[in-house]
Amino acid sequence: MLETIGLYPSWYVPVIGSAWVMGIIGTIHVLASHTSVGASWLFALLETKAVRENKPELMEYIRKYGVFLLVFSYIIGSITGPGIWYAITVASPRGVGGLIHNFVWVWAAEWVYFTVEVIGVYALVYLIGKIDPKTHLKLTWSFAIASWATMLLIVGILSFMMWPGNESWYQTGSTLDAFFNLNFFAHLGLRTAFMFAIAGAVGGILAATMKNDEVRIEITRFLSKMGIAGLFLGVIMWMWYIQTLPENAKIIMQTQLPSYIAPTLFGVLGAMLFYFVWTAWKPLQLRQGFAVAMTAVIAIAGLWPEERSRESIRKPYVAGQYVYSNQTISRDVPGKEITSNLPLIAEKGVLATHPFAPAELRQVTDANRLQAGEFIAKVMCANCHSMEDSGLRPMVQKLHGSTDVAMIKAYLQGALAQGLVPYMPKIPLPDHEQQLVAEYLASLSRQTQTVAELAGSDSKIVALKGEK
Ligand code: HEC
Repeated sequence: MLETIGLYPSWYVPVIGSAWVMGIIGTIHVLASHTSVGASWLFALLETKAVRENKPELMEYIRKYGVFLLVFSYIIGSITGPGIWYAITVASPRGVGGLIHNFVWVWAAEWVYFTVEVIGVYALVYLIGKIDPKTHLKLTWSFAIASWATMLLIVGILSFMMWPGNESWYQTGSTLDAFFNLNFFAHLGLRTAFMFAIAGAVGGILAATMKNDEVRIEITRFLSKMGIAGLFLGVIMWMWYIQTLPENAKIIMQTQLPSYIAPTLFGVLGAMLFYFVWTAWKPLQLRQGFAVAMTAVIAIAGLWPEERSRESIRKPYVAGQYVYSNQTISRDVPGKEITSNLPLIAEKGVLATHPFAPAELRQVTDANRLQAGEFIAKVMCANCHSMEDSGLRPMVQKLHGSTDVAMIKAYLQGALAQGLVPYMPKIPLPDHEQQLVAEYLASLSRQTQTVAELAGSDSKIVALKGEK
């Protein structure tokens, strides 16, 4: 029998890496989905007020926001949702496989709630004024609860990706042990809180267009209160959430996150707080353009760094602290009859055990050494490092442009093979493959230098011509 590490073909995306493809789609999806879940609660709370205080004029706003959601959240959300599936399936087949084996019924349930949510938003918008208010209110609450249920179920899966946080899941493999992992409640609280804040900001886009000033003031203040409550709760939840993270995540947060991340996130929180306080104080000064700008700031300076950091601090794992980002399995999981890939990699290497290694690379010769090294490096490192000179943690820059094969090999032999770096997988390549990877990585640095020199000599030629 062929001994195999069972990997799928790698999806190599130049410069930005498959990780950023995921990040970009994910950020758009989170904006759309959090807006929608937050809005569903806004509708339920606002409509409760409308029924209790007999203010049917508030329903006009719900109708407008509902139509906006249909176009904005639901269309963008249903394009990016499957987009995430396509992207993760090729970027991280092992990670997705692991999640499906744990959570297939959770996803099935999520899709049921999602269907209720989609039908709910259509029904809700269409039936305003057509059925009696109390029945409509029940419909709106069902929509809100179904929406939040989709978030709750997905958060269980996302937080398992960070880690189970207990030993028992590895032994039992049970869905409940995976779902109710250590950071589930904190993560759910965090997203729930911020979804209120996001919906409060996005809601301003519609509130600013209300014709009746009294209604406009009432709704804008409602949004501001919801936003402020969401922000405060969110900050508390955030402090709880970081307590539930694994050790590697804490180390990465302290040492590896780009220095702009923390100030950017605090800046966004500050900007949102200012925006909500100001719109509560002077509701009629809220213009549609301000709300659009606030939404863009949240997406670009809030959600993007947040989603990126959550990916980064999970390193070196992609799921459950047993699948590394480069798709190799790092430990035995008896509960799922999964065994670690590392012993086989250490013994036989990647070329001999990767089912999709090109046949011509199984025999390494002087002619194909570089291709062999490239193949191993792309399988083992490219998920986290771009092989170009820019983009996602560029390898050449991480090696400080070194062309010294022996030095690079020593790094592979020491830090990586021993698993000494908390944010990188243990990569115990056998000696001959360490040599191949080192030669390839050195050749990358050499190429970059040659390109730089050529660019330099070009400008010299131009300069000479100019002098003439
Ligand atoms: C799971 C993701 C991941 C994989 C796979 C990975 N690395 Fe890294 N690597 C990182 C992170 C994270 C850093 C920290 C630097 C940063 O974030 O910019 C890093 C840093 C480095 C550095 C700089 C030294 C240091 O410790 O900061 C080198 C050199 C490096 N990696 C080489 C490799 C090589 C060679 C491979 C493949 C054999 C590899 N890495 C695979 C995530 C990874």
